[in-house]
Amino acid sequence: MHPVHKTYAFILGLAVLFLALLPDALLAAPAKDNYRTYCAQCHGLQGNGRGVNIRDMSVQPRNHTDGAYMSSRSDQDLFTADKKGGLAIDKSVLMPPWGETLSDSEIHNMVRYLRTLCHCQYGKQ
Ligand code: HEC
Repeated sequence: MHPVHKTYAFILGLAVLFLALLPDALLAAPAKDNYRTYCAQCHGLQGNGRGVNIRDMSVQPRNHTDGAYMSSRSDQDLFTADKKGGLAIDKSVLMPPWGETLSDSEIHNMVRYLRTLCHCQYGKQ
């Protein structure tokens, strides 16, 4: 390939990559906003489980930055916990259900946001 064409191909590749990643970047903001609005009072603004409510809570909110724990939970577990509350996954009722407040797609985005907080995937830290 001519060097100039290589440069064009490279720039085109970058543009495609940028467009492929763009929707993710756009989706991340609302999940973060939802987290700050609905989750932070218990789970903390940083997601470390130390929100303003915790002093009087008999079961402490999960630390979402704990990669070791969070990688033991599947995306489906996190989705169900978020949508139907702690009870639905045999956890504390102090984790409220959000299915009336957040749509399924917002909850999917929330699960992806949780994965950015723990820097982990299911089965992989
Ligand atoms: C009123 C306090 C409170 C609020 C608000 C809250 N949580 Fe929780 N959450 C908890 C508690 C307490 C636990 C720990 C339950 C347990 O370990 O039995 C928990 C646990 C979790 C877990 C871990 C479930 C697991 O598999 O162990 C996830 C995920 C979670 N919360 C997500 C959220 C999200 C997302 C929001 C906001 C939409 C939210 N929480 C808002 C109290 C809260």
